[in-house]
Amino acid sequence: MQTDLRAAAHDLVCTGGGILAIDESSGTCNARFAKLGIEQTAERRRAYRELLITAPGIGEFVSGMILYDETIRQSTQNGVRFVDVLRARGIAVGIKVDSGTTLMPQTADETITEGLDGLRKRLAEYGAMGATFAKWRAVFRITPDTPSSRAVQANAHALARYAALCQEAGIVPIVEPEVLADGDHSLERCADVTRAVLRAVFSELEGAGVFLEGIVLKPSMVLAGFANARQPALGETVAATLRVLRDTVPAAVPGIAFLSGGQDDRAATQLLGALNAAPPDAPWALTFSYGRAIQRPALEHWRGNPESVGEAQRILLQRAYQNALAARGAYDPAKEERLLIGVAS
Ligand code: 13P
Repeated sequence: MQTDLRAAAHDLVCTGGGILAIDESSGTCNARFAKLGIEQTAERRRAYRELLITAPGIGEFVSGMILYDETIRQSTQNGVRFVDVLRARGIAVGIKVDSGTTLMPQTADETITEGLDGLRKRLAEYGAMGATFAKWRAVFRITPDTPSSRAVQANAHALARYAALCQEAGIVPIVEPEVLADGDHSLERCADVTRAVLRAVFSELEGAGVFLEGIVLKPSMVLAGFANARQPALGETVAATLRVLRDTVPAAVPGIAFLSGGQDDRAATQLLGALNAAPPDAPWALTFSYGRAIQRPALEHWRGNPESVGEAQRILLQRAYQNALAARGAYDPAKEERLLIGVAS
């Protein structure tokens, strides 16, 4: 079992590609559709996910896609299950298994992520459907008083219980503690909070007996709050992110796949590229597990119009390609517009 988990985690993050997160809950997907005037129905969500999953050549840049419960049960217009489309293209199938956040008692409006009840049974079902990896997201908001150690501990504990259950089922857990970039906090404050969160997470993972070679860590990058007037230079952000990761993430973890967290599309690519261009002494692979930073321009182009599918797929592929270059340390912002070369259809 450990051999399989190690190999599956390695294949997700160490082969030059990244992960495409398309696991928005129906509510989140509908909210994004509403902003663009797209009809908010199960059929429109299915059509959009078909566009993403069937984009020609996407498998060259993406090793896995994370689906939502609704999506893993859906099929293309021609009746081929999405899971089968992905597997035929060599793309690993992932599934979001947390059930979202709820307010945590005895905190200042902090949240705890739920979904442990019945998880063993759901993992068995998803595994039988073809999922080989899963995702659980914990969320931490920075204010002068948060995150509290109570919220950090509770969320780290839940992440560890989730990860242990995944591994019992032969499924690689993506462990996602997200420190939000909303707010006006400094880079240093984000570094301190991220360090505390990751320390708690790895302490709980160890306590729960989780096999670290068979997980993928999906953290946020260390950023100054979006509302902070002093935005650090790229080099400062890179240094702060690498320092916190080196302080907290054991070398046994095969790879770190960052979330994009509301960053501008190209900024997220540029930062990943700069992280990979830094001196190559990091023990883990550094790649992407982006949602918005890859999907956004494609969604904005599609807008629910069937005639725009081909161009939206081309736009999607361009972002996936640029992020794969960044993951390989070969991203050049000056060459963003270059044509895709050698992409099989
Ligand atoms: P973003 O890249 O849009 O932050 O999404 C990643 C994700 O999976 C959030 O849970």
